[in-house]
Amino acid sequence: MNKYHNYLLNDLSSDRETLVELLTSQDPILRETLFDKAVMARNLHAGNKIYFRGLIEYSNKCNKDCKYCGIRVDNTTTTRYTMTDNEVIEAARFAWNNHLGSVVIQSGERSDKAFITKITSLLEKIREATNDELKVTLSCGEQTEETFRTWFKAGGSRYLLRIETSNSGLFETLHPTDGKHLFKTRLRALESLKKTGYQTGTGVMIGLPGQTAEMLAMDLTFFKNFNVDMVGMGPYLETEGSDMNDAVNQWNQAERLELSLRMIAVLRLLMKDINIAASTALQVIDPEARIAAIHCGANVLMPNITPLQYRESYQLYDNKPGLTMDGAQNVHYWEEQIKHTGCLPAWDEAGDPLHYYNRTRKHESELIQ
Ligand code: 5AD
Repeated sequence: MNKYHNYLLNDLSSDRETLVELLTSQDPILRETLFDKAVMARNLHAGNKIYFRGLIEYSNKCNKDCKYCGIRVDNTTTTRYTMTDNEVIEAARFAWNNHLGSVVIQSGERSDKAFITKITSLLEKIREATNDELKVTLSCGEQTEETFRTWFKAGGSRYLLRIETSNSGLFETLHPTDGKHLFKTRLRALESLKKTGYQTGTGVMIGLPGQTAEMLAMDLTFFKNFNVDMVGMGPYLETEGSDMNDAVNQWNQAERLELSLRMIAVLRLLMKDINIAASTALQVIDPEARIAAIHCGANVLMPNITPLQYRESYQLYDNKPGLTMDGAQNVHYWEEQIKHTGCLPAWDEAGDPLHYYNRTRKHESELIQ
């Protein structure tokens, strides 16, 4: 038994060397121990339930031009769409009627007045249509603190905004240098979300060209230091026509998948009570990979409930799965899959991350002192 086995048996040290070793070790016993411990930590500290978020891909209109993304503004091959109010409300009702407990409204990034007002009114309408019982997560990009506040008041209670990489130098290589894609703006937006009171989620892409295992270890430390409530992260995938396809990538797809599973497991040991998603991107590399993520400590699944006619146009990366499975088929599929994981599907539960309550309660007690 080497020293890393000891680290896993006791509280995990978060020094960079240990994290890198856990992410890259070729020792099969270490790998198995890591995954087993992560599942144990999840079951003990977050529970053995899998929470659902019905994913509504509201619009692929986007003002940003992130080099890796299929819906970036400069990609002229994408047909642009925005769901109607009615379609969004119907999707939310579908989630509510099918006991999903919560939805995510995800969209390309826009910050014009019409968009801000539209999201506000959709939040209000969803509340009304679902008896205020459906929790809504927003994933609509960087916004001002005022917009975050407006949406929070209208009923958005969670927000996902990936940092993409916590390494500012790497972040710069992924985005145009036009002053509209700044690392520090992303960071500030994440800080505003927390300040506003959202359950705050972030995440990274794994196996990017130029990304090292050390950088991924630093991403884990970033999540811990930022004290996030939720993380969604998955492998980087090539996109047709992307500016990045010529870049040399040291990671092949199998390595990106393996790194992604290890990132989930190590993060679960570092932050035992947060919510961690089994992201859709995993499934592009291996159809079984989202279930594998549950076997590594993930506890959130996001069945896609976007109307089928829009699926093709919301392709952030090539070969996105589930273009033909409608919401009902998707829910049924995941219900069946979860049966083989030793976990239970959390029907009708919002599935708030326990970490959010633990950190805010701690904050209150600090204030009292
Ligand atoms: N590969 C993997 N993930 C991607 N995303 C966007 N493009 C890609 C890609 N090519 C992820 C980003 C973004 C989220 C909505 O989708 O991390 O934050």
